[in-house]
Amino acid sequence: MVVLHVNGQQYSYDGDPSVPLLWVLRDELGLTGTKFGCGGGYCGACTVHLNGVAVRSCQVKAENAADRQIVTIEGLDPHGEHVVQRAWREANAPQCGYCHAGQIMQASALLAANPKPTEADIHRVMAGNICRCGCYQRIAEAINLAATEA
Ligand code: FES
Ligand code: FES
Repeated sequence: MVVLHVNGQQYSYDGDPSVPLLWVLRDELGLTGTKFGCGGGYCGACTVHLNGVAVRSCQVKAENAADRQIVTIEGLDPHGEHVVQRAWREANAPQCGYCHAGQIMQASALLAANPKPTEADIHRVMAGNICRCGCYQRIAEAINLAATEA
């Protein structure tokens, strides 16, 4: 059995411990805000926080997330009012929206570690989060906005 701490709650998972955390979050816990994109660690759609660090949940085995603090987009703020989420709305960042849970989780981990990132910092840290709609400029604007409001 794998004990997972997700968004402040504890869960016991009895399935295959080597299954990707992404599938446990979505299929077992119903936390479908975290998206499947590539399944190979290339797109960032599945990004969650593991002990405050942004990770690709498609690349983390459930057993390796045991007894660590997992936060998904649903747990970032109970009312969707995290400073990054507010900035995202203000900057009207999404187009189709598919990539944005992952983008927001990556950006919020960035700002937690580096509250005043440079443009180069933003580019470097966000480079692994792909947006097929090409919203990169508005995403960077939203991060800068969140940095000024934090
Ligand atoms: S689905 Fe995990 S990185 Fe693309
Ligand atoms: S807004 Fe469509 S993939 Fe990013």
